[in-house]
Amino acid sequence: MRKFPKDFLWGSASAAYQIEGAYNEDGKGLSNWDNFVRIPGKTFKGTTGDLAVDHYHRYKEDIALMAEMGLKTYRFSIAWTRIYPTGNGKLNQKGIEFYQNIIDECLKYGIEPMVTIFHWDLPQSLVDQYGGFENRKIVDDFVNYAKTLFKIFGKSVKYWITLNEQNIFTSLGWLTANHPPGKFDDQKMFYQVNHHAFLAHAKTVLAYREMGFDGKIGASFAYTPSYALDCKPENAISKLNFDDLKNYWWLDMYGYGEYPIVAMKYLEKNGLAPEVTDEDREILKKAAKEINFMGVNYYQSCVCEYNPLDGVTPYGVMNTTGKKGSAQITGIPGLFKNPQNPYLKTTDWDWAIDPIGLKYLCREITSRYRLPIVISENGLGAFDKLENDNSIHDTYRIDYIREHLKTLYQAIDEGCNIIAYCTWSFTDLLSWLNGYQKRYGFVYVDRNEETGSLDRYKKDSYYWYKTVIESNGEKL
Ligand code: BG6
Repeated sequence: MRKFPKDFLWGSASAAYQIEGAYNEDGKGLSNWDNFVRIPGKTFKGTTGDLAVDHYHRYKEDIALMAEMGLKTYRFSIAWTRIYPTGNGKLNQKGIEFYQNIIDECLKYGIEPMVTIFHWDLPQSLVDQYGGFENRKIVDDFVNYAKTLFKIFGKSVKYWITLNEQNIFTSLGWLTANHPPGKFDDQKMFYQVNHHAFLAHAKTVLAYREMGFDGKIGASFAYTPSYALDCKPENAISKLNFDDLKNYWWLDMYGYGEYPIVAMKYLEKNGLAPEVTDEDREILKKAAKEINFMGVNYYQSCVCEYNPLDGVTPYGVMNTTGKKGSAQITGIPGLFKNPQNPYLKTTDWDWAIDPIGLKYLCREITSRYRLPIVISENGLGAFDKLENDNSIHDTYRIDYIREHLKTLYQAIDEGCNIIAYCTWSFTDLLSWLNGYQKRYGFVYVDRNEETGSLDRYKKDSYYWYKTVIESNGEKL
């Protein structure tokens, strides 16, 4: 019999820019994303989050739907630009009110709010003032913003996520130019930016403790567990290289407060290592002892194969259209490449579907860091069809989540301490680069790239997840 822990947090997640809209209302400042989406060709069909799914005005309806479903936790992010419109200047009371309302609404229904402090939407003003994450000054501004949140919401919010997917926003921002600031192959800066982000995370964790709070705090990482293509020794080493540079670079810093030795040596040899002071080292180590969980966003695993020096680069085409097979294989010459896994099916956006990968990463975190785990995102982006009777038969999504929950349970059964599982996402929302057609929600939102009524409709998966929660995971 499947027995999830008694207080298991069945959840669902979102991010401010992807749902709220109201991008210039009630004193909100502009973020880097508000600007970036306006550069022609950056997003699918030029979509923006100006209106998104209008959660800003419809949050009561959305949270009532969560309550009806029986959700135990709702993970959402706070837009820094609503709290501090210029990032570090005056506080915006209206922004505080908005999030206070969201939190109160959750608590009214017994839903545990899980707050992400930063989910990619950086105040543009900080970019204009000093280059945002490129400058060490970001650390103090970030910590000031986070402390403001703790001071105001710290009594009601018990779960905090400092940064969402630091590995993704920095990779897409400084290596492949897909996210702001849209820089290409700026590797030296990429590692420096990451170092600043690690410090922002670490100092935020320490500030939370110094302020006397006893809630739980950690970062959320986009974890792509890897398998060597086969037992050819070169391919086994390519997996080691991939893990050091693509996974442990972040996980080790959150979990140990240290960079992986071999990856650091590689960066030093190539003149790419970030500037790290002794004081930084001390802070990072101290903070690693204070996190309460490893937050993981899991969508897919990958395969590692040796990549010759004249092999593929990190700069292959991404599939942002939903045309299966349009993504290119990428890798780092001399180290690894990531071919498709012949044993796995893929989504229409070419993401490998691998439920066992979820168990694999839980086992790996448990062995390597001995930390509890929050699965802060997992879900399927797919085309959904609204039928004439307003039903949506998303059996593929149910299958996806069911299979992942089965292996998650196995991980628990085998000794991993998993405290929460959040699907991505509750309502449909804006998929940063893929427009509105790539849907993830339990609740269908009637809008496409151009227009729509924004009415909400429950998908089949909504009713299914309700039963899963009611039975505490017994009925999958
Ligand atoms: C994660 C992000 O990378 O994956 C989310 O935290 C994002 O914000 C989700 O939407 C799915 O990615 P995508 O590109 O399909 O929207």
